[in-house]
Amino acid sequence: MYYDPRAREIHGGKAHPFDAAPPHIDNGSARPSPERYYDPAWAKAEWERVFAKTWLLAGPVSDVCEPGDFLRFDIGVESFIVVRGDDGEVHAHYNVCPHRGSRLVPGNTGALVRFTCPFHSWQFDFEGRNIAVTDPETFQPRVLCHDHNLTSVRCEVAAGLVFISMSDDVPPLAEWLAPILDKLETYDMASMHVVQHRRSEWGANWKGGVDAFYESYHLHAIHPQTMGMLDDRTHIDLYPGGFSRQYVPFGQPNSHHPDQAGINPGIEAMLRDAGVDPAEVADGAKGSRAAIAVAKRVRAARMGLDYDKFSDSQLTDSTIFGVFPNAQIGCHPEAVFLHRFLPNGDDSGRFTCETVILYKHVDMPGYGAPGWMGLGADVDLTGGTRPDVVHTALGEPPGMGEVLDQDSELLPIVQAGARSRGFRGPLWSEQEARLRHFHTELDRWLAR
Ligand SMILES: [Fe+2]
Repeated sequence: MYYDPRAREIHGGKAHPFDAAPPHIDNGSARPSPERYYDPAWAKAEWERVFAKTWLLAGPVSDVCEPGDFLRFDIGVESFIVVRGDDGEVHAHYNVCPHRGSRLVPGNTGALVRFTCPFHSWQFDFEGRNIAVTDPETFQPRVLCHDHNLTSVRCEVAAGLVFISMSDDVPPLAEWLAPILDKLETYDMASMHVVQHRRSEWGANWKGGVDAFYESYHLHAIHPQTMGMLDDRTHIDLYPGGFSRQYVPFGQPNSHHPDQAGINPGIEAMLRDAGVDPAEVADGAKGSRAAIAVAKRVRAARMGLDYDKFSDSQLTDSTIFGVFPNAQIGCHPEAVFLHRFLPNGDDSGRFTCETVILYKHVDMPGYGAPGWMGLGADVDLTGGTRPDVVHTALGEPPGMGEVLDQDSELLPIVQAGARSRGFRGPLWSEQEARLRHFHTELDRWLAR
């Protein structure tokens, strides 16, 4: 479904099952009220009726491979521990000791033999069962007969990603993700590992983050450095449940770029990255995307990698999935970007932006991370070292590359205007069809 009438062909005219468009969804043309971006009552309703009820992306399964491996997932006022149990299953619990409420695990990721509360040393196994109360003889039996295990939450794994839910009343994860699950599975994320993990505080409502990441309409204004090689003529697909897909063509000029025909330095860098000599691309900018796809297929065949499962668009474009309510997954055969927009517990004008880069290591000469990913030479691409989370405070550039730093500067400006009496609610173009789709689904949950 081409929502943007200017969208490019996504597969050079060759049909590939991955690119098959879902049936059209009409989300109407209403102008939503702007309170959603600043009203604390909205934020409270979202927390109770959406975040506490849906599946939430907690992290990559590669962080919890072996029994005792854990990752901590914080959202709003809550913190969860996701852990691989001795039973081989992945479990999740509130990161809260039942004794006095202390947080159990302070670290972001790691490996443990058991959970030990830092306050009074109560101990718990990975399934959340209490295995030791310190000085139990000093408790009246009628006190300790209250449940003193950890409080567990739903936890399931799909497409190499761990999700948790605070609600027992959610469908199985595979059913929840059904509209996009087979597409996510194409990338084999379970075999990828974290090469970068950044967490930053942004001065805007979490939906301001979703909105900015869900469209390419603002590229020409906010990210002028991408004009030569990131096209805003994107293909968008909408799926039931608020899910969406967008193909953002790489190696093509933006529609606002004055030179649509020539191979500009940005395209040249992307061609060289894929091992293509720009002088050998016959039709200039028009042929660059196809040339990159061919080069990647040739390289994959040489290395015995199955690239037939990928369409040409998957090889060249950023293939982005919106996962309701608060995640976006940017997919490439070489790497996957997990973005999460985490509401602040108390302040509807702030959110935490969390970005994890998962990389597929192939131990062969000629295979490496694409240059545009901006990974430093010091990054261990083999998966041998799990990098620490880098946390940046409000007002600091998040250090996730120039483009995201520009977004983090812009969003507080949008947030300030969105709460003005003079703003009467957003007017979305078809380039912003994913925003309308997301907000429509959000409104549906809030009306329940
Ligand atoms: Fe942006």
